[in-house]
Amino acid sequence: MAVDLLLGLQWGDEGKGKIVDVFTSKYDIIARFQGGPNAGHTLVFNGRKHVLHTIPSGIFHDNTVNLVGNGVVIDPVIFKKELDKLEEQNVDYKTSLYISRKAHIILPTHRLLDAASEASKGKAKIGSTLKGIGPTYMDKTGRNGIRVGDIELADWKEKYRALADKHEAMIDFYNVDIQYDLKELEADFFNAIETLKTLKFIDSEEYVHQAQQSGKTILAEGAQGSLLDIDFGTYPFVTSSNTTAAGACTGLGVAPNQIGDVFGIFKAYTTRVGSGPFPTELFDEDGETMGRVGHEFGATTGRPRRCGWLDLVALRYACQVNGVTQLIMMKGDVLSGFKTLKVCTAYKYKGETITHLPYNIEEENVTPIYTEVKGWSEDLTGMTEASQLPETFNDYVTFLEKELNIPITIVSVGPDRKQTIVRKTV
Ligand code: GDP
Ligand code: IMO
Ligand code: MG
Repeated sequence: MAVDLLLGLQWGDEGKGKIVDVFTSKYDIIARFQGGPNAGHTLVFNGRKHVLHTIPSGIFHDNTVNLVGNGVVIDPVIFKKELDKLEEQNVDYKTSLYISRKAHIILPTHRLLDAASEASKGKAKIGSTLKGIGPTYMDKTGRNGIRVGDIELADWKEKYRALADKHEAMIDFYNVDIQYDLKELEADFFNAIETLKTLKFIDSEEYVHQAQQSGKTILAEGAQGSLLDIDFGTYPFVTSSNTTAAGACTGLGVAPNQIGDVFGIFKAYTTRVGSGPFPTELFDEDGETMGRVGHEFGATTGRPRRCGWLDLVALRYACQVNGVTQLIMMKGDVLSGFKTLKVCTAYKYKGETITHLPYNIEEENVTPIYTEVKGWSEDLTGMTEASQLPETFNDYVTFLEKELNIPITIVSVGPDRKQTIVRKTV
């Protein structure tokens, strides 16, 4: 069976966790392929909210295997906290949660390096979640990292010490004021490593291959969004992994010709948390309304998310890079009450009108060109059937479908599992 992908098309927080949870009943395996605890994936069901950072969003379903793939970076301390929360809710993860031996481990000093790097950048900081993501991927590509499989080996603590000592020297080099007690951080870290060791470590690419051979259905869950991709995002204001479809191939060991559907998720508007360009960002009452009604605060850091109109130039680019086969539009309910909605369909770029994403989308180069669309006033949050959706809402969705030339098969009208409407099947 081919592996389906589900990924974010904007700057993250599109609602991936919710839809993975909704889709899980159709899949045998849910597999995270990149990122780490910088992600915050929110699921809401039975009146309760759950936020997952590293654990795949299928974990609340019985009979589903949840795999943390080789492309993911794991902070054992945060991972343990996630496990503790699951235990409180009597979720039996011990038999259903597998971890790739090739996944890299975030050390306490990676987190400190992240903080030192950001502090040294001053105003030019990335706005990182400070979870140690960048430094860990740097050690991975620099061939210095520690992998999950290493902690099964006798001499891994020596390797750890050498790397942590090197990191301390690097932190000194930054010459910024970072206070820390490494002994205390290490006590937590090694304690969490022991918990991690109670889980099932596997050679995940082999596992995925065998699962495919035996006809198992697999959904790969992305983290972050396409515009945060290390290659295709708004560099340097990006994360340190490939968040796009190709990342699922390298992050799980799945060949490109084994990819099936690519579900692309986007919000009916746009948000971004952290620094970096955002052409359609709003600084007025409309942006404030989106943030307030949409509860736009980061699920990992609690920071307010910047809000703005939907940007089709960026969205088209994301669909293209990912080979999106079906679109899922989230948070349409948040736009209820806007008389007019604006959608950016092109950019004015250095005096020219363009419809592709240029190299540089900094404010001084790009001015969005908007098309205005009529808004809807109805409250969508109680709707469960496509037939209930107001005409103006359908017009908005149809307009986007035409612009993007990809079907929008599902619309989400609230955070709960149940607030999910299938518009069409393809
Ligand atoms: P993810 O990182 O892509 O999984 O998304 P997040 O969980 O970080 O952010 C999405 C936020 O929107 C969460 O608070 C969700 O509970 C919420 N959410 C998801 N879908 C909808 C929706 O259709 N409407 C509303 N109002 N909220 C939604
Ligand atoms: P999910 O999976 C939104 C952003 C950070 C920062 C930049 C780099 O929940 O959609 P990093 O910690 O990776 O060094 O941060 O990327 N960022 C996210 N923004 N959602 C996320 O994940 C994000 N993960 C990282 O805010 O701008
Ligand atoms: Mg999130």
